[in-house]
Amino acid sequence: MTTIGLIGSGNIGGTVARLAVAAGHQVVLSNSRGPETLAALVSELGPSARAGTPEEAAAAGDIVVVTIPLKAYPSVPVEPLVGKVVIDTNNYYSQRDGNIAELDDDSTTSSELLQRHLPGSHVVKAFNNINFVHLGELARPAGSPERSALAVAGDDAAAKQQVSTFLDSLGYDSVDAGPLAQGRRYQPGTPAYGTPYNDPQAPAQETDPARGVMPPASPTPAVELQRALDAFGG
Ligand SMILES: NC(=O)c1ccc[n+]([C@@H]2O[C@H](COP(=O)([O-])OP(=O)(O)OC[C@H]3O[C@@H](n4cnc5c(N)ncnc54)[C@H](OP(=O)(O)O)[C@@H]3O)[C@@H](O)[C@H]2O)c1
Repeated sequence: MTTIGLIGSGNIGGTVARLAVAAGHQVVLSNSRGPETLAALVSELGPSARAGTPEEAAAAGDIVVVTIPLKAYPSVPVEPLVGKVVIDTNNYYSQRDGNIAELDDDSTTSSELLQRHLPGSHVVKAFNNINFVHLGELARPAGSPERSALAVAGDDAAAKQQVSTFLDSLGYDSVDAGPLAQGRRYQPGTPAYGTPYNDPQAPAQETDPARGVMPPASPTPAVELQRALDAFGG
């Protein structure tokens, strides 16, 4: 059992928390508005969950997931994350985050910005290329023929291994995409972003109104994800 700290408890944070609790982990949730605003989610998750401030979630987590609008990354607490594995789910959308010059000119990546902000932590990019609905729906036990894979990138091999072990416990295989800079191969707009997990057979008009315009989920084994990563044009 591992304690997972969550900085951000929205669509992705909430889904990771549900999967983590189902896998037998403890979770400490946080957001920008305060622990009391997370009471409903804590109550849904039960005794394995509690809420705190971002500093408390960072301090409590063996692994800490940063899952907030990218523009908020400078507010992520630095000191309590020193020496820890930090999973970065964030994506850059200039419409939401404002323009960040070094992302616009592709001289760096969003995960490298977070790593620069957290020099004493081991940042691993994961969960960013799958919609939260699909993330919740595609988890399967190890050995299932319908098991899907998620990409991991990071500069520390041991941290990546720790994240892969965590993903395995949630119901996912992992594909090592290389160092953090290679995270650009599954950023928004790449072949590995979102599309592999969409059912290609489902016509758009048959999408479920209750799930919005999200097409049905399609299990994506490691070979298929690897193919999408390899299709990245540069
Ligand atoms: N939605 C998806 O399917 C998806 C998939 C992959 C990756 N992503 C990426 O993952 C990140 C999170 O996406 P999301 O859809 O989960 O967003 P979301 O539903 O809007 O949730 C964002 C969470 O971050 C919290 N937050 C905002 N500013 C914060 C701060 N300064 N400190 C602590 N918590 C803060 C929010 O809390 P308050 O409400 O209290 O502000 C909220 O709990 C984004 O970068 C997104 O691009 C999203």
